[in-house]
Amino acid sequence: MKTLSLILGAGLLLSTFANAEANLPDRQTELPAHAKAASSEYLVPRDLATIPDSEFGNKVKLGYSLFVNSQPMRGQYVGNEQNCANCHMQAGMKANSAPLWGAFMAYPAYRKKNDKVNTYAERIQGCFKYSMNGVAPAVDSPELVALTAYSYWLAMGGLLDKYDMQSTPIPEMSDTVVQLGGKADSFVLPEKIAAALPVEQRNKLAGRGYPKLAKSAETPSIERGEIVYKQTCASCHGAEGQGLKQDGVQSFPPLWGKDSFNWGAGMHRVNTAAYFIYENMPLGKSIQLSNQEAWDVAAFMNSHERPQDPRFTGDLKANQEQYHNHQGYYGKSVNGKVLGEHAFPVKAVD
Ligand code: HEC
Ligand code: HEC
Repeated sequence: MKTLSLILGAGLLLSTFANAEANLPDRQTELPAHAKAASSEYLVPRDLATIPDSEFGNKVKLGYSLFVNSQPMRGQYVGNEQNCANCHMQAGMKANSAPLWGAFMAYPAYRKKNDKVNTYAERIQGCFKYSMNGVAPAVDSPELVALTAYSYWLAMGGLLDKYDMQSTPIPEMSDTVVQLGGKADSFVLPEKIAAALPVEQRNKLAGRGYPKLAKSAETPSIERGEIVYKQTCASCHGAEGQGLKQDGVQSFPPLWGKDSFNWGAGMHRVNTAAYFIYENMPLGKSIQLSNQEAWDVAAFMNSHERPQDPRFTGDLKANQEQYHNHQGYYGKSVNGKVLGEHAFPVKAVD
């Protein structure tokens, strides 16, 4: 917001603002994907029933609720049928599904791509803009305060328990400290934990992100992926990737099309999708696909049209060259159609 008011304050033309928007950092740049760690290493957050009935506790509860059902923010901050928990499973607690506790402890983080240190709250803003095809709430909005409070609560409870401090209540911290993330100087950990977890190791908690999947023996194939999709995914995600909606409620999320994540979201990269899918899908039966099937079905899923990359300013090729130097189909021709040319609108508010 500061940058925005500075730009407007400087009295620059609107076109400058459009450019500033276009140059927004790629906040869904790829996380370093690591091999899987032993499950005994993962943090286990405390039982949700132990969230206190206090002002702080209410923020945590609101954060949880917005995370598992993001649709109350539809039209304001959310432009599609996704909930945060669709990709950060078990309400953001599941190891190897980019858990919030792993993320929280990894910020603030320097990002080469925008040559800037991103706070934890800014990282969440990236998911609103891209994965939720929406508009990021301000850092000090009740929604972002709540989502960061919830992430902090998951991380701190997991850490206290891991380091044998089960009876210690989760310390309440100010919103501004929590917004920065668990690597900030102002973020004080109990001595025992701080000693075991120096700042430079906090971004490497076991189970963070989606674990790296070895390259497939054969180049991922959209055609083979379609067969996997029909057999193992379509029953829930629909023949057209539209998911399943009943009585106005999206119970199984869409994987492509107007209601899905946009062309700027991390999940549109074939490798990120393959890591996620191998580890987490089909729901309830994860790690049953072969390595090759995971790559193939990720390629199939991501070779369909979806909402436009919000950084797009009219020149598909230029946008592709600037932001899409990774494994994806944006700007590429599939079955005679160039993906991105017929993209759905950004922030498709009903
Ligand atoms: C039994 C139903 C079911 C099956 C089968 C299934 N999924 Fe899912 N999938 C889900 C649900 C439910 C979620 C959201 C999870 C949540 O919110 O906790 C999900 C989430 C996803 C996501 C997260 C991204 C998004 O847009 O929400 C992807 C990608 C995905 N599934 C791909 C697949 C693929 C590929 C297959 C086949 C290999 C598959 N799924 C099979 C139910 C299923
Ligand atoms: C369509 C899938 C999807 C949805 C929906 C989604 N995210 Fe994400 N999120 C991702 C991916 C992919 C990454 C980056 C992982 C990577 O690049 O390896 C990510 C990264 C993050 C991170 C940083 C993780 C880390 O370890 O650094 C946070 C925090 C986060 N998301 C929060 C949210 C919140 C809050 C919402 C809802 C407002 C949300 N996400 C919705 C897919 C999604």
